[in-house]
Amino acid sequence: MNVHAAALAKTHQFDEPTSAFAGDVIDDLSQFPKRLSPKYFYDAAGSELFEQITVLPEYYPTRTELGILRSRGEEIASIIPKGAALVEFGAGATTKVRLLLERCDFGAYVPVDISGDFLSAQASALRKDFPELAVHPVAADFTAPFALPDEIEGMPKVGFFPGSTLGNFEPDEARAFLRSARDILGKDALMIIGVDLEKNERVLYDAYNDAAGVTAKFNLNVLVRINRELGGNFDVSAFMHRSLYNRERHRIEMHLISKKAQTVRILGRNFSFRPGESIHTESSYKYSLDRFTALARASGWSVQESRTDSEAMFSVHALAASD
Ligand code: AVI
Repeated sequence: MNVHAAALAKTHQFDEPTSAFAGDVIDDLSQFPKRLSPKYFYDAAGSELFEQITVLPEYYPTRTELGILRSRGEEIASIIPKGAALVEFGAGATTKVRLLLERCDFGAYVPVDISGDFLSAQASALRKDFPELAVHPVAADFTAPFALPDEIEGMPKVGFFPGSTLGNFEPDEARAFLRSARDILGKDALMIIGVDLEKNERVLYDAYNDAAGVTAKFNLNVLVRINRELGGNFDVSAFMHRSLYNRERHRIEMHLISKKAQTVRILGRNFSFRPGESIHTESSYKYSLDRFTALARASGWSVQESRTDSEAMFSVHALAASD
């Protein structure tokens, strides 16, 4: 896996063994309404498509967050204790973490990711450019408790969770993740987190319905993956991408819509679809500053500083662990 590939998706942490994939697909397609977990978007093709999404004109989050990290980097640096260990939840693009590493005097960097390939690609790229920095990768699913390396014991801890990956968690999962991060990092920790904001619905809609159709391909690719890895027989051309903004639940929803009545066979089971029936493949929650502050507070953190771009499209927060 090259560094370019490693730079793909924040959500590579989600890779899991095929057996878990099989079990989840069978369970989730047996529900009504049918669903699939967004963690399965990120095979090699899906990761490549996600990288293409991040530079689409309609997809504002990545460039907006980078802009905030660039313009506010010095302010962020000023609150980070010298010699702290930076713990990044998920190994992916090194672009964002570099902005912190260049401006702050970290004693160590700990990328945490379930994919060993991504970790080693990321670690070797950073070791080359930051020869003084101690890099201690941890191969773990960061949504569950894991142990920090002994080498960073006694150092102040700073978590880093960019990309609004938090938005792909259901509200109870988001709370559980923040609580677990708080427990892992300890009582004096800080956390730098990127969170996408509620905004004009047209802007949100367009970000997930790009004119070039890359998001549609990204969404449909999960069916290609099921066919390849689980021997499914989805006719991918018989499904279409749909994204909509669910105002009540403050989230973009992505769906795959069956264009006709059809039956799909996966691992010896049949799944029937009515014309127009949906598989809900992703939710991407959008927060207001107040709702994010409340979520952080309910999860063992207090918001120290919040910064947005000038149009308030995206936010980056510094959280401090609270008791
Ligand atoms: C990774 N995650 C934050 C993206 C998002 O915006 O929710 C995934 C994505 N789905 C469609 N476009 C991008």
